[in-house]
Amino acid sequence: MAKSKTVFFCQECGFESSKWMGQCPGCKAWNTFVEEPAAPKSSRGSQASPRDIAAAVPTKLSMVSPDDHKRTLTGIRELDRVLGGGIVKGSLVLVGGDPGIGKSTLLLQMCQVLAARSVSLLYISGEESLQQIRMRADRLGPFKNDIMMLCETNLDIVEGVVRKYKPDIVVIDSIQTMYKEDIGSAPGSVSQVRESTGVLMQLAKGLGITIFIVGHVTKEGVVAGPRVLEHMVDTVLYFEGDRHASYRILRAVKNRFGSTNEIGVFEMRSSGLTQVENPSEYMLNGRPQGASGSVVSCAMEGTRPILVEVQALVCRTNFNMPRRTSAGIDYNRVNLLMAVLEKRLGLPLDNCDCYVNIAGGMRLSEPAIDLAVVCAIISSYKNFEISAKTIIFGEVGLTGEVRAVNMVEQRVAEAKKLGFSTCLVPEVNLKSVASTEDMAVVGIRTVQDILKYIKA
Ligand code: TYD
Ligand code: MG
Repeated sequence: MAKSKTVFFCQECGFESSKWMGQCPGCKAWNTFVEEPAAPKSSRGSQASPRDIAAAVPTKLSMVSPDDHKRTLTGIRELDRVLGGGIVKGSLVLVGGDPGIGKSTLLLQMCQVLAARSVSLLYISGEESLQQIRMRADRLGPFKNDIMMLCETNLDIVEGVVRKYKPDIVVIDSIQTMYKEDIGSAPGSVSQVRESTGVLMQLAKGLGITIFIVGHVTKEGVVAGPRVLEHMVDTVLYFEGDRHASYRILRAVKNRFGSTNEIGVFEMRSSGLTQVENPSEYMLNGRPQGASGSVVSCAMEGTRPILVEVQALVCRTNFNMPRRTSAGIDYNRVNLLMAVLEKRLGLPLDNCDCYVNIAGGMRLSEPAIDLAVVCAIISSYKNFEISAKTIIFGEVGLTGEVRAVNMVEQRVAEAKKLGFSTCLVPEVNLKSVASTEDMAVVGIRTVQDILKYIKA
C-alpha cells in the first residue's frame, strides 16, 4: 500500500514545502510550518478531453459586455464605499479581523438592511448556534424581512444547500470552521481553508451569487489565517480597531472592483455598529484646552481627509538610556524626527524621555504628519501651547526641510469645515492653496521656520 503523503504548510502565508523549515521563504515568519496530509490528486488524467477543449472558445475583449450595473448598494454607506460602490454580483469577499472585533455583527447588520429590500440571503454559521445569532439579531433591532439561517460546518452540505436555494448573497461565518470530508486535516488547517475557499469561489462564479467569508486573524494560533486565501478572493476587507476604543475601521486591502485606499469608520455601540459620518470630529473629541504637546494634523485615508490629534510628552530622563515610545505612528520615524530636531534646532533631546501618541487610537503611516509630530515635541519640550485653531502638516526631510504633501486642498477644506483658522503647510504647496477670509494658509520651508509661527 502506498504511504500516505504529507506536506508542510506555512500557517501565515500558505507556502508549501516537502520538508519542514524553520523560517518560511515566502513570508519570512519563523516557526510557522505544520505538517498536513497532501491533498488527494484528482483521479482524472491531466489531459482534457477533446470535447472539453472544443467547448472552450476564446472571446474578443470588445465583445465582452461590462457588468458594472450589477452592483447592489447595501445602504450602509461606509461599507459601500469600501466595497468600491456596492456589492458586485458573483464576487467572493473576505472579511478578516481579530476575533471579537465585530465581523459577525457587521455582516448580520448588512443582512438586516439587505433583507429589508427583499434580497434573498443565507447566513451560514459554524461558530454560533441559531439561538446565539437570534440574540445578537435582537440587539440590532427589528428585521423587516426574514433571512435564512443555517448552522453547518460540512462544506459539502453547505454547497448542496446553496445550490438548492440559490440565494443572492451568502455569508460564511467563519472559513476556519468549515471542512471538507475528503481532506484529512482538521478544520482551520491550511489545506482545509484553501480547498473550502476554492469550492466557494466556484460556487460564487458558477451561480452568480456573492459570498462573504469571515476569516479570523490568528497570531501564532493553530488555525490558518486569512492571508492564506487573500490571493484567491476578489476583495479583502480587514476590520480593525483598538479593543479598548469603540470605533472600528474597515479597510480594503485588495479589491478587484474598486480602489483599495478607502476606509469606512464605525462605532460599536450596545445596539450594534453605527456609521461615523464625520471621523474628524470623532477623532478630535476630548481634545485638551491650553495644554502643551498637543497638535492637530490632517491625514489622508484614501480620498478622505481625517483630522487627528498628535500628542507628545517630553520630560527629563532618570535613566542612562532615555525612553522613547510611540503609539499610532512608526517608532523609528519618531526617532528620526527627534534626531532632526537635535541637529537642526539644537534641542538637547538626548537626556529626555519622549512619548508620542496619536489620540483616538488611529494608526498612521503617512509622512505628512511629520511636521505635526515635530511641533508637538517642541511644544512639550519648551512647554508652550500651540493655538487650538491651528492645523499643521508636511513631510520633514533629514536636513530639516519641509517637503510637499499631496491633496492639500482637501486637507485645508476639512480643517475649514471643522472651524480651524490657520493652516501651516509646506511652502511648495502654496501653489495649490491660498489664504481666504476665514483661513490663513502659511507656507513653511524648514523646521527652523516653524518656530516663528507656532508660539501662541
Ligand atoms: P462579533 O461580531 O461577535 O465579533 P467577531 O465576529 O469579529 O468575532 O462582535 C463581538 C463583540 O461586539 C463583542 O465583544 C460584543 C460587541 N457587541 C456590542 O458591543 N454591541 C452589539 O450590539 C453587538 C452585537 C456586539
Ligand atoms: Mg464572529
